[in-house]
Amino acid sequence: MNDMSSAPVASPDHPPVIRRLDYQPPAWLVPTIDLDFALSLDSTRVRSTLTVTRQAAGAPLRLNGDGIAVAGLTVDGHAHNAWAMDGNDLVITLPGDRHTVAIETVINPVANTQLSGLYASGGLLCTQCEAEGFRRITFFPDRPDVLSRYGVRMTGDAAQFPVLLSNGDPVAQGKNPDGTHWAQWNDPWPKPSYLFALVAGTLVASRDRFVTQGGRTVDLAIWVRPGDETRTGHAMRSLIASMAWDEAVYGREYDLDVFNIVAVSDFNAGAMENKGLNIFNTRYILADPETANDGDYDAVEGVVAHEYFHNWSGNRVTCRDWFQLSLKEGFTVLRDQQFSADHGSPPVKRIEDVRILRAAQFPEDSGPLAHPIRPDSYQEISNFYTATVYNKGAEVIRMMTVLAGPERFRQGTDLYFDRHDGQAATCEDFVKSIEDGAGLDLTQFRRWYEQAGTPRVDVALSHAGDTVTLTLKQTVPPTPGQTDKQPMVIPLRTALFDPATGRHAGEHLLVLTQAQQSFAFTGHASRPVLSINRGFSAPVAINNPTPDADLVFLAAHDDDPFARYEAMQQLVVQHLVAAITDQLSDAARDLGRASIGEAMAAILADPALDDLMRGELVILPGEAYLAEQLSPVDPTRVRAEREALKAWLGTTLASQWHALHDRTSAVAYGLDAAARGARKLKTQALVYLAPADPAEAIRRAAAQYRTADNMTDRQGALMVLCGLDGPERDAALADFHDRFADNPLVIDKWFSLQAGSLNPGAIDHTKALAHHADFTLTNPNRVRALYMAFAANTAAFHDPDGEGYRLIADLILALDPINGNVAARFVPPLGRWRKIEPARAALMRAELERIAAVPTLSRDVREQVGKSLNG
Ligand code: TRP
Ligand code: ZN
Repeated sequence: MNDMSSAPVASPDHPPVIRRLDYQPPAWLVPTIDLDFALSLDSTRVRSTLTVTRQAAGAPLRLNGDGIAVAGLTVDGHAHNAWAMDGNDLVITLPGDRHTVAIETVINPVANTQLSGLYASGGLLCTQCEAEGFRRITFFPDRPDVLSRYGVRMTGDAAQFPVLLSNGDPVAQGKNPDGTHWAQWNDPWPKPSYLFALVAGTLVASRDRFVTQGGRTVDLAIWVRPGDETRTGHAMRSLIASMAWDEAVYGREYDLDVFNIVAVSDFNAGAMENKGLNIFNTRYILADPETANDGDYDAVEGVVAHEYFHNWSGNRVTCRDWFQLSLKEGFTVLRDQQFSADHGSPPVKRIEDVRILRAAQFPEDSGPLAHPIRPDSYQEISNFYTATVYNKGAEVIRMMTVLAGPERFRQGTDLYFDRHDGQAATCEDFVKSIEDGAGLDLTQFRRWYEQAGTPRVDVALSHAGDTVTLTLKQTVPPTPGQTDKQPMVIPLRTALFDPATGRHAGEHLLVLTQAQQSFAFTGHASRPVLSINRGFSAPVAINNPTPDADLVFLAAHDDDPFARYEAMQQLVVQHLVAAITDQLSDAARDLGRASIGEAMAAILADPALDDLMRGELVILPGEAYLAEQLSPVDPTRVRAEREALKAWLGTTLASQWHALHDRTSAVAYGLDAAARGARKLKTQALVYLAPADPAEAIRRAAAQYRTADNMTDRQGALMVLCGLDGPERDAALADFHDRFADNPLVIDKWFSLQAGSLNPGAIDHTKALAHHADFTLTNPNRVRALYMAFAANTAAFHDPDGEGYRLIADLILALDPINGNVAARFVPPLGRWRKIEPARAALMRAELERIAAVPTLSRDVREQVGKSLNG
């Protein structure tokens, strides 16, 4: 058997392990597939006609299926009996090297609660085929290295399904006398099955046009439910900007005459890059000032760009197998980050990206689910759509841009697209192309694809005469299955500041390649202040205990905005870690707070800072990032010390926060950077006042809520009110629900705000909300809104009695039979037990064991729970 999709036999509680090194090329190719759909919500008939060509002598044709049965089968137009089911696979014995195989299946979209394959979303029919959903529609070699030309015909009731969409170009349509109508779509570009898409239903289009650099006119349409078309403008502008940017920056032009986007309310992920027919979660399309906050606007822009960029990084060059997922995702995340940076403030974008990496990826890298950006094995591939594959994957390619510089990096990507256009490629193909095109030696650098874990770099600086010696030591921590680690290539942008002048004599790129290495710099009469990993040039944890005074200096003077932010973060992290671990005398606490207060006051007063950047600098390090610095951690202490510092800053700088709130409240709504910066600071001021002077915070927040003409201000005010108690809180929550009762995306916010709140009652509120009439387990956005916010709410989730753990475990068990893919996403918070203090760790483990004892778990949850207990 030389087909990697034929898995070894395994029992349900031990799903088979798929290994990267077992890859075998497909035994048969499928140059063309014609699909004919007779659409119906509960019984859609699919006729699939494949031309198949033999690649390996003797092998039968093995087609994957999942929950479907053969309703008819012919080979070359004749009945054919030489087939059998092997588990879920359909295995057909074929005499020759080229045949036409026709298969009929019947599927029930409304019964498809997994939202993978063909499913119904509020009366619409739509598909989600990545990673392995196509096999839930028809039998097929459902692996990304089988590329086919698709022809799709669909017939359906004209009133129920007025709009009929698929990939590629619309080539014909017509009406039937029985009230049905049909459409034919052909996609000229061969593609893997995971990029197939179909949508049918009542939708309205917002339309625009884009003319490519080569002169092709592309008809753009964003399809939404009637009534939502007034909220598609930002997505359309983002799409057009993305198309222009990819031409200008990467030389990539669009390659079809139409580009369609459809927004659906029920979606497992953010969006999907199906060729010519992207399908989106509504939350990444719909935006207007009243219902979307500034973060939502950025997310729409970023995700629209991301899916569009996949047309080259993912579709024209796709993945050979799913172990190569970061080939498309890491690279595409980097591309969307670069695009958003170019369209806004590059330093602010960089800070936000690093904050996400630290909050989501660092904990993954230090926990039981740690894996390299190119994993070596999996049980369920859906579990590998992770911050590691996506965000660390982007960081790894970003390091190549640091090493090569932008021009040479571009030569590398040009070579990559040239060499591999139309192919299913590997991460190795990408690295080799960058190596050859950019003229780099990436031999040792390849370890970033092989080794999991966040490298730690210990820094020591010594000064003698006029020479500074920097000694850097790197350690890559052990991770499950990887005990011995080799040194990585770590590019560190570095500067040495003269504290007397506040200047440095130029930045150095230090490339650390050894376990330990020293770098010497002359011409330093006095001991300089070190600024290292500027711009976050490497995704590592720097360990460089630094006197507060130096950090206060860098926070005020570093000419790299990221480094300023970093100095401020380190100043606070050092202080809070000492406080949480009881290493602060009262005197040291006072001194530490004084330094932080001094730095914060300087940031608030600095006229050279724009408000967007100021808004980043005043945000304290998050609880998850703080917890990463501690093992084991008592999460209640993290919350308490962080809140205590906030309260102290709120009190000490009260007049500054008042003045800031007054100043920013006078700025009119706009989408420009100045107005956005003002909105960010407006709510930040309330965040500091809330623990310091709750009455004043409530007064200001209630007024901000009442007068808000946009969602950023309204949601910010409601968040602050939610964390406090009083009639203003209850009134604002009730008003918010009433005002937006018919807008599910805003009602999601209403759930999240309460579950994620600093309010001591958050756990009870969450339990009550689970029984609210608006709550449902069948809509992933609603489930995430309530329970992801709760799981990220440190104090509530880590309730000392284990009630929070029980709540999440109960959710996993209730959701798993409905949607295993989404249910599995809730396992990692419980899986962090090894890093938590022993009493809670035992409670977390007990919940994992309670889940593991259920015999009918999905493969998704089974894998995550098994690894969380034993990994
Ligand atoms: N390829 C998608 C993206 O990153 C991700 C995605 C869409 C996905 N739908 C999914 C991942 C379903 C897992 C399951 O752009
Ligand atoms: Zn993607």
